[in-house]
Amino acid sequence: MPHSELVVVANRLPIDETVLDSGAREWRRSPGGLVSALRPILRGEGTTWIGWAGGTGPAPDLPDIDGVALRAVPLSDDEFENYYEGFANSTVWPLYHDAVEQPVFHRRWWEAYQRINRRFAAAAAESSPPGALVWVQDYHLQLVPAMLRALRPDLRIGFFMHIPFPPPELFKQIPRCADLLRGLLGADLVGFQTPGGARNFVRLIDRVLGLRTRHSEIEVDGRVARVGAFPISIDVEDLERLAASEQVRAHAAQMRADLGNPDRILLGVDRLDYTKGIEHRLKAYRELLADGRVKVPNTVLVQVAVPSRERVEHYRMLRDKVEREVGGVNGEYGRLGVPAVHYLNCSYNRSELAALYLAADVMVVTPLRDGMNLVAKEYVACRPDNGGALVLSEFAGAAQELKQAYQVNPHDLDELKDTLVLALEADPADAGRRMRAMRRYLRTHDVTAWARAYLTALEFPVES
Ligand code: G6P
Repeated sequence: MPHSELVVVANRLPIDETVLDSGAREWRRSPGGLVSALRPILRGEGTTWIGWAGGTGPAPDLPDIDGVALRAVPLSDDEFENYYEGFANSTVWPLYHDAVEQPVFHRRWWEAYQRINRRFAAAAAESSPPGALVWVQDYHLQLVPAMLRALRPDLRIGFFMHIPFPPPELFKQIPRCADLLRGLLGADLVGFQTPGGARNFVRLIDRVLGLRTRHSEIEVDGRVARVGAFPISIDVEDLERLAASEQVRAHAAQMRADLGNPDRILLGVDRLDYTKGIEHRLKAYRELLADGRVKVPNTVLVQVAVPSRERVEHYRMLRDKVEREVGGVNGEYGRLGVPAVHYLNCSYNRSELAALYLAADVMVVTPLRDGMNLVAKEYVACRPDNGGALVLSEFAGAAQELKQAYQVNPHDLDELKDTLVLALEADPADAGRRMRAMRRYLRTHDVTAWARAYLTALEFPVES
């Protein structure tokens, strides 16, 4: 019997609180993300989303968004610090990203992580009608599947990991790591971004829990949990439409003019996160300027660094280092009114981003490790003109799909510099062929295809 009710459980709710001109506050749907992914495949009502609304203190009452009922899970100041900033973002996040920054372990963080996961599981158990499908998202909630199964064995439970899943040598460093594996195994289907992540998980189940595994199937407590790779994507059609609009095209032209109409614009758009390789990128650019292979004002770099997790030590240190480096490059290579790096520490809305993508000649996406990286896919979708060139780290999940990008190992500074120059000087016909091939791929591998593939694998009825 197919299940028809869907409950999504994610750390964040798909809404942002906006302060209106009148001073009143209003909740608005966050642009992009999972809600838009799910919208086309959901038939009418029947979806609930459980998550954190973003502040601390009592949970707010929230309006429905596009027919999706929202239920907020509260966090106290202390829980925010120990569960979100602590275990989720100072233990799991760095460790799952190849420990590019040193993961930190504290017993009180682990206790808070268990407590909050239990709270999310209880909220899901309460909000789910009999036989519903509950889809748990990401590294904040790895214990929820097993906790929920214990409370509600009637539910079908899915889990999707949005970030990389590390090899055993790294994963086994986490104290009580077996509990995380058992938590995830509570799901009927554990989804990862890449086949490599899925393989790491199966190897760990075998080595740490000693359970019987058969390719992508694991026998656990008399049932079978399945494992698979489901690379996430974006709403390609929506972005293509946006990028083709008169308003966005005019905005892109205005942006080029504001930058002094340089011959070449390099663009980076990242959350200000140490996994994104922003320092390496700045260093490569600085050396290119020093070598005279790139010159201001003919070429400029625009770096959007969206503020993120600002109270966490590693993030504060990163911001200092990036801003010092930007200052250094501009001091040395900028001219009056013509900086070498345009550094923007803020977030941009969808239409502004589309204009930036359209204005950029070379998009530089060079994370040291990334589960997927949707910026790379957004850039391609925003180039219906087949213009521009994408420089993409081989350590982003997206590199396994966007094979025609100028791929690079961002740790290899000389290779990074050469690849940037290659993309800057690319023959437009060759660059155009690459963009066209990547866009053709994305059209059939958009976010709806992703959600459909995952939900179909869980036997959730999806209309074609
Ligand atoms: C990554 C994670 C998401 C997270 C986002 C923003 O993409 O996979 O789960 O929501 O970063 O981070 P934040 O800490 O602000 O939620």
